[in-house]
Amino acid sequence: MSGDQAAVSHTAQTLPRHVAIIMDGNGRWAESRNKMRIMGHRAGVEAVQGVVEVCAKKKVEVLTLFAFSSENWRRPKKEVGLLMELFMTALGREIKRMHKNNVRLRVIGDIGKFSKPLQDRIKKAEALTHDNTGLTVVVAANYGGRWDVAHAAKKLAARVAAGELSVDDISPELIAQGLSTHGLPEPDLFIRTGGEQRVSNFMLWQLAYTELYFTDTLWPDFDETALDEAFVSFAGRQRRFGRTGKQVVQACQPDSCQHDA
Ligand code: FPP
Repeated sequence: MSGDQAAVSHTAQTLPRHVAIIMDGNGRWAESRNKMRIMGHRAGVEAVQGVVEVCAKKKVEVLTLFAFSSENWRRPKKEVGLLMELFMTALGREIKRMHKNNVRLRVIGDIGKFSKPLQDRIKKAEALTHDNTGLTVVVAANYGGRWDVAHAAKKLAARVAAGELSVDDISPELIAQGLSTHGLPEPDLFIRTGGEQRVSNFMLWQLAYTELYFTDTLWPDFDETALDEAFVSFAGRQRRFGRTGKQVVQACQPDSCQHDA
């Protein structure tokens, strides 16, 4: 797609193709109910089920969920252990439902740091759903944006060292090809729940032109209505990709505008 076509089709876009979410606020949700933090994460899994269903229904193509950052190992050991158990059970239980609903699962991040049984479960779940053609759910686990870029850089450095590439061949496109999200469209809409307004080392490269949306809603309370509010906000944004507002409007006149479904 040329730059012009990209600008035109994005102008007409009312629904994001790719939604990326930082699911924050599980701990506070639990603490405000005098419950243990893990109860908030359990409620968070239920919110994940709801959001997956809504995105599949609305024909969003990709939903990326930040489940565990490379910095989350700094949490109390007990919480990390309970989170790992939760990932194991959630993966075991949810993958059948996802498969039945034609959802494809992809996990990004340095999963080699997880226990062998969890790694095996991740690989099995990815293999089972590999050929599904509906919503792609990308779970970012032991993921960090800096890790992702560094990993891509290492792959390119190895190719340069092997004489396959020259330093001058290195381009943004080649770096993007080495990222864990290779083959997926870049996120159109980033959502962070829980009131904080930062990206916390999530998809640093991929978020370059993403529309950002922050809400105070805690993740376990993030339901279809809350997601719709984010979609309404997205639909009202003018995505300029470096152009002027006038150019974007001109590119989207009825006779030239490609309206996305
Ligand atoms: C942030 O809330 C949440 C996490 C670090 C874990 C997210 C995990 C889930 C929602 C469950 C599993 C998800 C999948 C995809 C199986 P927080 O604990 O930082 O909340 P706080 O800021 O209120 O303390």
